Amino acid sequence: MLTIALSKGRLAEQAIDLLEKAGYDCTAAKEKSRKLILEDEKTGLRFILAKPADVPTYVEYGAADLGVVGKDTLLEEGRQLYEVIDLGFGKCRMCVAGPKDLTSDKLDRIPNKRVGTKYPNITRAYFEGVKKESVEIIKLNGSVELAPLIGLSEVIVDIVESGRTLYENGLDVIETVADISARVVVNRVSMQMKADEIKPMIEKLKKQVELNNEM
Ligand code: PRP
Repeated sequence: MLTIALSKGRLAEQAIDLLEKAGYDCTAAKEKSRKLILEDEKTGLRFILAKPADVPTYVEYGAADLGVVGKDTLLEEGRQLYEVIDLGFGKCRMCVAGPKDLTSDKLDRIPNKRVGTKYPNITRAYFEGVKKESVEIIKLNGSVELAPLIGLSEVIVDIVESGRTLYENGLDVIETVADISARVVVNRVSMQMKADEIKPMIEKLKKQVELNNEM
C-alpha cells in the first residue's frame, strides 16, 4: 500500500488527473465527500487530503510515502525529503511586490524596511541570504497585499499567479524570488523500502509530464 498526501484543493485535483493519465485508478480519490483518507485496497493506493503546508510534514515523518505540493511550501517548510518531479502545473512566482512606483533600486535604498508575508523563511533566505540585507519580517496569514496599502510594511513577499490581485490593488512585482510549480516529494525511507512501487510510479509520472509538456 502506498500513501499519497495531496494538498487539498486544485493541486489535488490536478495530481489525481495526472495519476489517472499515468495509468493509476484513482476512483477512491475522486469520491465527493468530506473524508480525509480515501483508500482503495484493490489498487493499493491510499490518499490523504492535508492542508498544503502540512504535506511535507506527513511525508518527512513517513505518515505518507509520497506527496504532491507546491515548491513554495517546500521552500518555506524546509523538510528532509526527496523532491523527484516538477509536475509543471500550479505555476506561479514568489515575488517581492510593492507600490507601482517602487523600483528595485529604490527598494534597495530604503533602510530598515518591513516585509509582510505568509512566507517568513523564504523572505529571510532571500533578503538575508541573497541580498545580504536585514529586514523586519512581519508574518501575515493571507490578503498580504493589504500590508503596503495600509502602511504595515513597505513591500510584501507573496505568490503572484495572474498578477490580478497586485494590479487591482495598485501594486506591482519588484523582484522575482523563485519560480513555483507543483512537485512530487518522497519519504527518504519509503524510497528504499518501497522502491518496487515508488520507482515505477515516478517513471510513469515523469513520462506523463513530458507528454503534457509536449502538448
Ligand atoms: C494568493 C496570493 C495572492 C493571489 C495571487 O492568495 O497570496 O494574493 O493568490 O493570485 P493572482 O496573481 O492570480 O491575483 P490566495 O488566493 O491563496 O489567498 P490569501 O490572500 O488568503 O493567501
